[in-house]
Amino acid sequence: MQSATRPLLPAASYSMARLFLLSALAALFPLSYAARGDPCAAIAGKTFVLPADALACLKSFPFNETLRQNVLTANIARVFDFFTFEDYYLASPPPFQESTADIRAELARINTTAYATDYDFNVDLYNFVTRLNDGHTRWFPNCYTSHQNLLPAPIVSLEVAGVQSVYITPDLVDLISLLGPDYTDLIAIDWQRLAGARVLAIEGQDPYAYVDFIAKTVSGNYLDHGVRVNSVFTSYRLSGAAYSQRFGDLAGPTGVAQTSLTFTLIAADSTEAETVTVPYIASFAGAPFTDRASYWANNCAANQGTNGRDLKAGAARLGGEAAPRVRRQPKASVVDKSNGSAVGLPSQFAPTLPTVGGDQGIMKSYVLPGSETGVMFIGSFEGDFAGFQKDTASAIRAFKAAGVTKLIIDLTNNNGAPFSLPPIAAFRPPQNRIRMSDSNCICIADIGGFVCLGQFLHRYLAGTIGYAGFQSTKRANALARKIVAADVALGLNSSFGFYPADNYAFLNGTAMPADFDYMTPDVPITVNGRRDANSQRFHDTCEASFQSAPDFGNGYSVYHALRNVAIVSNGNCASTCAMFSTLMVERHQTKVAVFGGKPSENVEFKGMAGNQVLEWVDLDSEVKTANLKDDPLAPADLLVSGNMRHNWRTAWSFLDESTPIAYLSELPNFRFPYTMDTYNNPQNLWLFVEQTLF
Ligand SMILES: *[C@@H]1O[C@H](CO)[C@@H](O)[C@H](O)[C@H]1NC(C)=O
Ligand SMILES: *[C@@H]1O[C@H](CO)[C@@H](O)[C@H](O)[C@H]1NC(C)=O
Ligand SMILES: *[C@@H]1O[C@H](CO)[C@@H](O)[C@H](O)[C@H]1NC(C)=O
Ligand SMILES: *[C@@H]1O[C@H](CO)[C@@H](O)[C@H](O)[C@H]1NC(C)=O
Ligand SMILES: *[C@@H]1O[C@H](CO)[C@@H](O)[C@H](O)[C@H]1NC(C)=O
Repeated sequence: MQSATRPLLPAASYSMARLFLLSALAALFPLSYAARGDPCAAIAGKTFVLPADALACLKSFPFNETLRQNVLTANIARVFDFFTFEDYYLASPPPFQESTADIRAELARINTTAYATDYDFNVDLYNFVTRLNDGHTRWFPNCYTSHQNLLPAPIVSLEVAGVQSVYITPDLVDLISLLGPDYTDLIAIDWQRLAGARVLAIEGQDPYAYVDFIAKTVSGNYLDHGVRVNSVFTSYRLSGAAYSQRFGDLAGPTGVAQTSLTFTLIAADSTEAETVTVPYIASFAGAPFTDRASYWANNCAANQGTNGRDLKAGAARLGGEAAPRVRRQPKASVVDKSNGSAVGLPSQFAPTLPTVGGDQGIMKSYVLPGSETGVMFIGSFEGDFAGFQKDTASAIRAFKAAGVTKLIIDLTNNNGAPFSLPPIAAFRPPQNRIRMSDSNCICIADIGGFVCLGQFLHRYLAGTIGYAGFQSTKRANALARKIVAADVALGLNSSFGFYPADNYAFLNGTAMPADFDYMTPDVPITVNGRRDANSQRFHDTCEASFQSAPDFGNGYSVYHALRNVAIVSNGNCASTCAMFSTLMVERHQTKVAVFGGKPSENVEFKGMAGNQVLEWVDLDSEVKTANLKDDPLAPADLLVSGNMRHNWRTAWSFLDESTPIAYLSELPNFRFPYTMDTYNNPQNLWLFVEQTLF
């Protein structure tokens, strides 16, 4: 039985004796895998395998000190210098105390722990960074995060006859069948009869206590514990343009550490409690391979997309003329690796109402029967920057034409697809979705999206209220100051990176000139007793990138009050989504309802609200473009395929400009449990909201 304190993905630290034995064996018998059978060849070419078989492959790479020093000391420790919330972690304020860690002490511990395999080192590091619960700040070693365990028993908390309990998802048979026979043939139990079972215990614990344990150790991404509780459960979402059902972090965790989970439950067709052990099946969404060597080459070794590049180089090659013209849009998103397990929502639960307005990609709009209420389901602020703006305009026009007076904005699992793929109804073999050049394989989903699309939607709904963003800062560490100074000296502008000042505006709204050094003088701050330095404060410059439309700035608010707008979600609304909801609530007192969670435990309405995230490849490009790669403070190129992303900018609260909005507790004004009717049925949920909230 699993105790509450045992980490789910244990970083097995073997004894030194075992370590010596292993390395001695590896040195003596370099061909031993050929003799014993190659554990990676045994799983090659298969989308679904047993987790123990996948683990044998992943654990076949011995620990390598050169790689540890590259990843930990030369790369990740220096990336943390840019992480805006480092000092907040020493003592996170309530209600976020669970997300407390001494980051440098943890790095030192991992630096001196004896590991048997490269897997053990990376999983320990992965768990430490994941448990910071900041989806903007994650370590993804692609070698070990390309597998995803899928349990044929996703759970959900439902209210039935006035009582909330944990259930195996009632639509289990329809949902799991979408994975196809390659998956179901591997499940050695009669899983269909678990549909709708009421769960009495998981691994011998109260089911809600076990959900807390998963929220604490596996989920990551969100500072608030209550929001993470909701990501443990299965839930509906838009994945790309398609309705999808997320497995949740109990049934769909990254990695292959666990082989099964034991439930005590009462099956839907029974009144007797019984104990059932349900197997996990691992799904693979990495790059194809045939054996151990090609698994390493294709999934673990650095590739051409892993590290950044000097963005001046392209311009120079083309005769100095062809600097990139288009300014890149800042992003704020969290990565949900569980998109690998994005299965279509069983089709009978997708809305039956016709969509209204434009393209219906990542935003789907409806008018509810009676024509009083419009619905915008916004799956993401990511994707097609111009398309999103067009879709917003056409949806609002359609609402106006229909005479709609109330608006529901559904931000459940506000989720996105950085690459546009055709919508799919069911699981596709991941091999179809791989792009070799992309270190972040396509099995990820960004929750959140383009910073400016949140402001665009706000502007469309609320009209012009002046600056609709937040005050923002970066850390002014020694290397960051050198980058800004070098960009000024080199005459670089926002076409070359996110450090040049013309990405931003002064607090009075005037655009900063590209040669302005906003790090000099820096602004000292003290957080949890530690002194640090920030840049000067600045504004985003979203307005410059908005497409105009005839009714722009005269959006919904000119014909109806914003108190007739309700935002609904499961709290899994991060980054741009969180900034948008915060803006609506802080400025316009919009109603917010959060569904799900545990009975009598709070759920914040915003999951994770940084201001801008930089992927490792982006930070490295900033350094290389500023000609500073040789600086002793510069993080080294990764030798392995991985991504250490980090929250690079803070957004300060509009209500309290000394507090990052990430650390300002804001609860929804309405909380509802899911029911049998609403948990996987967005249209039923919207009808409930229309009845209840307006
Ligand atoms: C450790 O990794 C480095 C970098 O990839 C490699 O050059 C070296 O051969 C590896 N060491 C062993 C013992 O495999
Ligand atoms: C890890 O240990 C090495 C060697 O002892 C040291 O040079 C390095 O600075 C340490 N790195 C971290 C992040 O503590
Ligand atoms: C940046 O400068 C280049 C010339 O070096 C110019 O072509 C480009 O349009 C500028 N970008 C912006 C956003 O001003
Ligand atoms: C997530 O999966 C869905 C299909 O399940 C796909 O449409 C979407 O593009 C994926 N997103 C990413 C980022 O891979
Ligand atoms: C805005 O502030 C900047 C920096 O303080 C200043 O240089 C500029 O003149 C101001 N612009 C206006 C219109 O006040």
